[in-house]
Amino acid sequence: MRVNLTVNGRPHTADDVWEGESLLYVLRERLGLPGSKNACEQGECGSCTVRLDGDLVCACLVAAGQAEGREVTTVEGLAQGGEGDGGDRLAPIQRAFVEAGAVQCGFCTPGLLMAADDLLARVPDPADADIREALSGNLCRCTGYETILDAVRLAATRTGGAGTPEAPEAPEGGGRPCASPGRPRGSPSAATGPAGPAGPVGSASPCRAPTAC
Ligand code: FES
Ligand code: FES
Repeated sequence: MRVNLTVNGRPHTADDVWEGESLLYVLRERLGLPGSKNACEQGECGSCTVRLDGDLVCACLVAAGQAEGREVTTVEGLAQGGEGDGGDRLAPIQRAFVEAGAVQCGFCTPGLLMAADDLLARVPDPADADIREALSGNLCRCTGYETILDAVRLAATRTGGAGTPEAPEAPEGGGRPCASPGRPRGSPSAATGPAGPAGPVGSASPCRAPTAC
């Protein structure tokens, strides 16, 4: 089947998409946007977090066909509204992650950036509990989370919680990175029920919906 979607402000068409193919696969393998990471492909880690019509979702749990006609923002798109030139252009939350030492192997980073940016857009001056809750669907094996919390606090002091504005238009090949079209991240799913695995920094679990997180 053919899927038409807008990614980071640019229209895209993917042909010969298999009915069971995920949005994550389309982004990474068909559209050349590898920022969203495939760590578990089960809605558990948050590494594939993207915005779908403004809502955080796990791209690994969204069927590509569900993105038809919709707006997707991946981690590549975060920088579009940031400061700097070319490859050095970074959104405030991205710069804060670098400066706070919140990036080690980096595999979790795209998903954390998306979740943190979403938080700062919603909550101007987040308390630590807000940050922990917002990032509770994102797993990190390296940092112990403290530097990640530092990074979000740092970004909040600099932006006043403005987050990253919706990007205008991405350069060719540019892109931005959990929840299902019908269910936001962290919500209990019918499949696993409300007592899913504990999140890393908060109590909510990662993406657990069969078709999104
Ligand atoms: S790859 Fe882990 S939640 Fe999607
Ligand atoms: S930096 Fe390695 S998993 Fe988070």
